[in-house]
Amino acid sequence: MEVVICESQQRAAELAADAIADLVATSPGAVLGLATGSSPVLVYDELGERVSAGKLSLSEARAFLLDEYVGLPASHPETYRNVIARDFVAKVDIEPARVSGLDGTASDLPRACADYERSMASAGGVDLQILGIGTDGHIAFNEPGSSLGSRTRIKTLTDQTRKDNARFFGGDPAAVPQHCLTQGIATILEARHLVLLAFGSGKAEAVREMVEGPISTSCPASALQLHPHVSVLVDEDAAALLARRGQYRETFAAKPEWQRL
Ligand code: F6R
Repeated sequence: MEVVICESQQRAAELAADAIADLVATSPGAVLGLATGSSPVLVYDELGERVSAGKLSLSEARAFLLDEYVGLPASHPETYRNVIARDFVAKVDIEPARVSGLDGTASDLPRACADYERSMASAGGVDLQILGIGTDGHIAFNEPGSSLGSRTRIKTLTDQTRKDNARFFGGDPAAVPQHCLTQGIATILEARHLVLLAFGSGKAEAVREMVEGPISTSCPASALQLHPHVSVLVDEDAAALLARRGQYRETFAAKPEWQRL
């Protein structure tokens, strides 16, 4: 795992945007994996600015979302499809039709999950996956206890995640859906490069467990230790509990620019 302790969230966003820009420079039709939530918002803003400035185009790229709530009507502003339409699609030059998400209103949810896996595979798999991490160590909506071999499926959200996400639902955890569809841990590990962002002291324990803890279903993000190309972009607060944080900072600083990320 490459851990990069960044001086600001903006710096982390720039590094993630650099990784995407480098990818599409050599592979304009690259497949991006998109996360929702607060952590990637500055990355999407940064990509939007580069597109507006004519420095980047994502018009030939494709994208797949990580997860979706079950049962929210398609018009609900907090479906992840609608969040990504606002936070990402509206800012860059990708056609909405090139962005795929799970259908949380499907009458046959297991089938919707299996179809999604097939459509990701037929697109050639994800080249670069943006990830956040939950305070309980979840990635996508793979809550603690999720199988490390899991594929895209229905999951029940924990009380902790519903509490964390209540800020998007008028502050009321009961208004957060109980179920979701999520790419599995094994699905996520198939992406060729994973870029995880985590900010703030609320993420410090989860980041420590992910990076320095044992690989365990108790911290689903610890499965990322099995992946050969993971970049973890954190601020000082999220890095605060890492025993080897001095080493991570030096390692990154010592690398030539082309080797970073
Ligand atoms: C959302 C997702 C979640 C979030 C995580 C952190 O698509 O996959 O795993 O990344 O809950 O959320 P924020 O970034 O809002 O703290």
